[in-house]
Amino acid sequence: MTDSIAKKFPLFKKPLKVLFVAAEVHPYATIGGLGMVIFSLSRALKKMGLDVRIFMPKYALIDEKKYQLEMILEGLKVPTGGEAEEKKFLICNVKRYLPPNPDVPVYFLENMEYYEKRSNVYGYSDDPTRFTLLSRGVLEFLRQSNWVPDIINCADWHTGALPNYLKTVYNKDPVLSKIKTVFSIHNLSHQGVFDHRFVSELDFDDGKSQIAPFFSEKLLKQNFMRRGIIYSDIVNTVSETYSSEILTKEYGEKLEDLLKEVRTKVFGILNGLDYRELNPATDKSIPFNFDISSLQKRIENKIHLQKEFNLEPSPDTPVLGMVGRLSGQKGIDLLMPILETLVSEFNIQFVTIGAGEAKYRSFFEEMNKKFPKKVGCHLMFDLALARHIFAGCDLFLMPSKFEPCGITQMEAMRYGAIPIVRKTGGLADTVEDFDPKKNSGNGFVFENFNSYAFFGAIIRALETYKHKKIWHGLTKRAMRADFSWEVSAKKYLKLYKKVISFHFKK
Ligand code: GLC
Repeated sequence: MTDSIAKKFPLFKKPLKVLFVAAEVHPYATIGGLGMVIFSLSRALKKMGLDVRIFMPKYALIDEKKYQLEMILEGLKVPTGGEAEEKKFLICNVKRYLPPNPDVPVYFLENMEYYEKRSNVYGYSDDPTRFTLLSRGVLEFLRQSNWVPDIINCADWHTGALPNYLKTVYNKDPVLSKIKTVFSIHNLSHQGVFDHRFVSELDFDDGKSQIAPFFSEKLLKQNFMRRGIIYSDIVNTVSETYSSEILTKEYGEKLEDLLKEVRTKVFGILNGLDYRELNPATDKSIPFNFDISSLQKRIENKIHLQKEFNLEPSPDTPVLGMVGRLSGQKGIDLLMPILETLVSEFNIQFVTIGAGEAKYRSFFEEMNKKFPKKVGCHLMFDLALARHIFAGCDLFLMPSKFEPCGITQMEAMRYGAIPIVRKTGGLADTVEDFDPKKNSGNGFVFENFNSYAFFGAIIRALETYKHKKIWHGLTKRAMRADFSWEVSAKKYLKLYKKVISFHFKK
């Protein structure tokens, strides 16, 4: 541990040991925001002197040659809770990867049937079994390991069984019972395969019963998001605003009453950005590098973007961009009734990329057919193209219905695009509405989830865009906003300190 941390946190004489457990982790299995967060947060904490490691499944897509995994435990017997002799245990291996600095060591749980034979990370009807295996596999591994963490930081429903096992099955275990758990909620709306929001009384899982055996029907209906919330020592979400929103009916996804009950252990810490990787001055994936003092070069990225999407190259036409999953969460329903009016009444262009639901895909395809010089779309996710949008568009749209944190609005700002966001979750915590009287703010914010409110914000932005000097100031303020991981990682350390010093009743 570095001296400065030791001085600030005298409680920790030795480096604090933290194990992250997650279903997806960048770059081994890159899916979405969750995996990026585990990657960057673990690094940032390591840099602060903590002893941080990661535990995840070894999926088929993990390239064993590239990462040179080392077998450290063969034949780990994970109890399934089942009675039948031949199904009492699942046999796994644990492999380890020691990456070069600053990345953190990763343990991979290997099991042929549940991970290696599956080409995807998610989307199987037995996902609850696959991730309960992960949760229990971690604990069984730690019983035999000479490295035992002080804290396990779980992520989302996939790891909800872990605190549950820890506080029940393993509560007398001399080693495991000392471990504290933090359960991080990245998205409350994802609660597994079974829809827990609309269940019959018979299927309702109050979270208090034993975890069902791995292969039982009952396991598939247990709510591991609920269980993670109940049994963990601390619950945290990925922004402060989201941590209070989830206590309400509108955002609580039917877990608001439980969350209200345990609210004293619910916290919120905003995710950060990896500022070293995301730097418009050095990023090799954008066509023209620029920084705050060379914003004129940003225009070349804009022209490049327009050409890339077959739009009319025009430096003065405002380009509106959108990047993200095509799902109800992202508020595309607010854009659908107004996009046609926007492109036909105003001199603007629109570009989007993202994969997702068919109704949104066909909407964008139709708009592209109708206005080929004004609307461009690429309906697949593409990291490099996303960066081209951040670096080339003028306005970045994010009218989310809910947004636990949101990362793209921060990325867009870092690359000088001005965000237009709905005031929710992490969007509310990162974007400050432009005030023309004070000439302050770094974006445009609207409150109500309807197209009129969204339309109003877009028009305010388009009018402001006409005043170059003011726009310049806005762009600079957006680019200067500091969402670096260092800030968030310090808050995590405080949270860990809290969980260690808390005395919880069993
Ligand atoms: C989920 C949330 C998103 C958040 C990300 C990482 O994908 O929907 O808002 O930024 O997790 O925490």
